[in-house]
Amino acid sequence: MSFETIIFTKENNIALIQFNRPKALNALNNQLFDELDQALDQVAADADIRVLVLTGAGEKAFVAGADIVELSRMTPLQGKKFSRKGQNVFSKIENLPIPAIAAVNGYALGGGSEAALACDFIYASEKAVFGLPEITLGLIPGFGGTQRLARLVGTNRAREMVFTGKNITAQQAYEFGMVNQVCASEALMDTVMKTAGVIASRGRASLRAAKEVIHNGTNVDLETGCRIENDAFGLTMASEDAKEGTAAFLEKRKPQFKGT
Ligand code: CAA
Repeated sequence: MSFETIIFTKENNIALIQFNRPKALNALNNQLFDELDQALDQVAADADIRVLVLTGAGEKAFVAGADIVELSRMTPLQGKKFSRKGQNVFSKIENLPIPAIAAVNGYALGGGSEAALACDFIYASEKAVFGLPEITLGLIPGFGGTQRLARLVGTNRAREMVFTGKNITAQQAYEFGMVNQVCASEALMDTVMKTAGVIASRGRASLRAAKEVIHNGTNVDLETGCRIENDAFGLTMASEDAKEGTAAFLEKRKPQFKGT
């Protein structure tokens, strides 16, 4: 299926989705959310894909937020529906059966930071800029940003970013624990693809279990989290990939995971 607002490609078990609305710095409109939603369904259904990378087409922006032109024409009810649509699509990233990495190459403002936060982790170019400037528009973040940012970097840092609407650099985002690695901009995609390649060499079944356990265990008490982990561990023990992985170790060879 071909898309107009995103570019979706797949190579070596890695799916790559690029936000692609260059005239609007890749801003998120209804069409983009619909297309992203469809692409994510394809990613989830494709047993060959073991990791997803999200980035922005062009050099300037990852995503400069929700499309303010579209937003300015919405009624309050349409705006609420749009916010819900964005939340649902970003939750779909969070609930994919494979890890998702955000490669933030430039502006990641508003919905752009929110898209990156829905991924499992973020690598950023040294030129990347993060921020939740919705307050400067008389709004608040509406695609899960108030929730995911506060959970990731703590409520007080999130409050300061949301209340001031001020942007932060990639280095500050790294210091906040929002970004795992800051790279020279020309090295960003190679660095991300190297990490994606390592993840893609692991089994899809255990990747899924690991992602689910970390996600489901994050907002519960430790004892409950450990029970969730224990159930999932039991299931991975029953997988073909676990038989293959342990046999390959003992036979001193590389495992061939089938994702079952
Ligand atoms: N929506 C629509 N168009 C956008 C856009 C957006 N979010 N961001 C940039 N554009 C457009 C600009 O209007 C401009 O279009 P024209 O050439 O037709 O004038 C083009 O992209 C290039 O942008 P600039 O000329 O502004 O480029 P710049 O280098 O001077 O500034 C920027 C870059 C700092 C990212 C600036 O464009 C900007 O501040 N953008 C808006 C960021 C923002 O407020 N995002 C939050 C949106 S609200 C949101 O996300 C809501 C939510 O959570 C639900």
